[in-house]
Amino acid sequence: MIPSDAPLSKGFRRRDFLGHLAAAAPLMGLGAVRPAEAGPAEAEPTPSPRHRRLGTLEVSPIGLGCMSMTSGSYNPPRPKEDMIPVIRGAFDRGVTFFDTAEVYGPFTNEEYVGEALAPVRDQVVIASKFGFAFEQGRRAGRNSRPEHIRRAVEGMLRRLRTDRIDLLYLHRVDPEVPIEDVAGTVKDLIQEGKALHFGLSEVSPSTLRRAHAVQPVAALQTEYSLLQRFPENQLLDTCEELGIGFVPWGPVCRGFLADKFNEYSRFSEASRYASVPYFAPDALAANMALLNLVREWALRKGVTPAQFSLAWLLAQKPFIVPIPGTTKLHHLEEDLGALTVTFTPAELHDFRQALSEIPLVGVRPPESALVDQ
Ligand SMILES: NC(=O)c1ccc[n+]([C@@H]2O[C@H](COP(=O)([O-])OP(=O)(O)OC[C@H]3O[C@@H](n4cnc5c(N)ncnc54)[C@H](OP(=O)(O)O)[C@@H]3O)[C@@H](O)[C@H]2O)c1
Repeated sequence: MIPSDAPLSKGFRRRDFLGHLAAAAPLMGLGAVRPAEAGPAEAEPTPSPRHRRLGTLEVSPIGLGCMSMTSGSYNPPRPKEDMIPVIRGAFDRGVTFFDTAEVYGPFTNEEYVGEALAPVRDQVVIASKFGFAFEQGRRAGRNSRPEHIRRAVEGMLRRLRTDRIDLLYLHRVDPEVPIEDVAGTVKDLIQEGKALHFGLSEVSPSTLRRAHAVQPVAALQTEYSLLQRFPENQLLDTCEELGIGFVPWGPVCRGFLADKFNEYSRFSEASRYASVPYFAPDALAANMALLNLVREWALRKGVTPAQFSLAWLLAQKPFIVPIPGTTKLHHLEEDLGALTVTFTPAELHDFRQALSEIPLVGVRPPESALVDQ
């Protein structure tokens, strides 16, 4: 927990941010969108409506990523009784879009989400993902065979305490199964009412097109942030052309863009961070130039680095819906404050210019967007 007078970025303290947050409180209940207080007088409000569309699916402009509540990726799994108030607290603050997956836990994450959202089930959009095999309760390779997808979905429905999955994603492509077979199976599940919309994760533009030709895709979920900008190579354009929404995972770079780490941060071998190239010591040191730019602009806008980073994503396209992950309600509140940030076209241009001059280390190259991961 950051003390109220801890500096968030140079000259801007948590106490100031909390004041800003209080001013934004109606927005978190998804009331009318107000222009940012700190924005320049001529600021054209960037569209931050109460809802955004992923294909034909309407969701809150920022969703909640639930993975780290149980996956052990960034922190030890948290007890259910501590996480249900975070999920319900998100709903109370206007979030209607919740992201989980069979593999998070595995299985337990869907149980948390299902239990937390059961009382408000008809007012929320639940997204979950299939695509892995499991042996003795542990992930064991990929599996997208039609009969496996059907079995997976039955388990998801049970754990999520629901009769339909609003957005059913393929988590990772199974090289053994043509994408048309996966899309055809999801199409059948949609016709049966067990799923309402189809999503894909970490696929190339050509796989996206092939799947979309069989069953319209509502959303592509792929890593995208100020640090990981490879989706700008054809993925966002393909989504725009086909009317597909884009859901950035890792939107605050696993905490890096939320000012959680610095050039001296080191991670144990057992930690998920240790296998992420941009958290290697030399990469962290080099990428501080990006964080410093974000800190500088956040200060200028009177917001935090996390808010600035999320607002920048929202400003790229109206069909982008970031899903920051958190185990803490106060971090979620901070992240939702991104909805108060506006940019002028000149600001977006100038920031992009400064961004393009920063060499980044440990990031995925643009060509990686063209390959199924
Ligand atoms: N499709 C895929 O393959 C895929 C892969 C990974 C993730 N996802 C989904 O995307 C979601 C988001 O991605 P992610 O969790 O990997 O990355 P992320 O959202 O960029 O970062 C999550 C981390 O940032 C921290 N954080 C968030 N807001 C913060 C704030 N305001 N201040 C300080 N720290 C903050 C969280 O810590 P605290 O808990 O301390 O707040 C957490 O450790 C996941 O939850 C999951 O649902 C999908």
